[in-house]
This record gives sequence, structure tokens and C-alpha cells, in this order.
Amino acid sequence: MATNRTFTMIKPDAVQENHIGGILSMIEEAGFRIVEMKKVLLTPERAGQFYEVHKERPFYQDLVKYMSSGPIVAAILEKDNAVADFRTLIGATNPAQAAEGTIRKKYAKSIEANAVHGSDSNENAQLEGEFYFA
Ligand code: PPS
Repeated sequence: MATNRTFTMIKPDAVQENHIGGILSMIEEAGFRIVEMKKVLLTPERAGQFYEVHKERPFYQDLVKYMSSGPIVAAILEKDNAVADFRTLIGATNPAQAAEGTIRKKYAKSIEANAVHGSDSNENAQLEGEFYFA
């Protein structure tokens, strides 16, 4: 079922390199409205909770360390078909496979430092938004 909200984070590499404005511009130009937004420094514990679904995967510890290495920007976005359209806008997880015109193609440096997160389902969009904006 399509939904009109998704959740995103601008990740530490992109914040550190002053890409918040460029990324938000791409998001707004694609027709998303920013419903909630804040800049946050995650503790390793909070980052670990957010990515708990991946805790058995080999990169989990690296991902938690990276996501708590500097501030992130968390936001709830609104648009028709938000989850799917936002995944299209950000491009593939691995920037080497990201399509031209996507956020990751423009701003991501590696599969870890890949500039942005986008929820992968309506259910996760709801849960992830509540994680930051309860
Ligand atoms: S996705 O977007 O959930 O379908 O992608 P997935 O491959 O399942 O990856 C889940 C998140 O883990 C990050 N990731 C990695 N981090 C560090 N090292 C490696 N090798 C790696 N592979 C994947 C990936 O960026 C996803 O982060 P989020 O924040 O969910 O986009």
C-alpha cells in the first residue's frame, strides 16, 4: 500500500562535508515536504538500537560506529508514494551502482558513507520516525 510519509537521515559524512543544504534541495525539488527535522549526535547505543535489525550482519559494528561518529540530520518527509519515491531519489545502497541524478550518485562516498538513509517499507518509516520524533 502506498503511504505519504517516509523517514530519512543525512549521514555523518554528508553533514561533515556541508551537504545538508544540497541534499535538502534535491529532496524538496523532488516534491517532498519536510514535516519534522532535527540534527542529532547519536550515541553508539542509540545507533545500535536504530540498526538492530542488521545486528547479525558482518558490517553491523562498523555501521554503528560510523553512524555515531558525528551529527546526523533526521527528518520525516511527506509526498504521495513517499517510501518508494524516496528510495528511487536516493539510489542504490552502493553508490557505485547508484543511477545518475540520485542523491547517492552525487554525494555518497562508499557503501558505508552513503550520504543518506531512506526507510524501506511503510512500517519501518513509521517506526523510524517515532524513534526520533516520539
Ligand atoms: S537496504 O538499504 O536496507 O536495502 O540496504 P542493506 O544492504 O540491507 O544495508 C542496510 C544498511 O547497512 C548499510 N551497509 C553497510 N554499512 C557498512 N558497511 C557495509 N559493507 C554495508 N553494507 C550495507 C547500508 O548503508 C544500509 O544503511 P541505511 O542507513 O539503512 O541506508
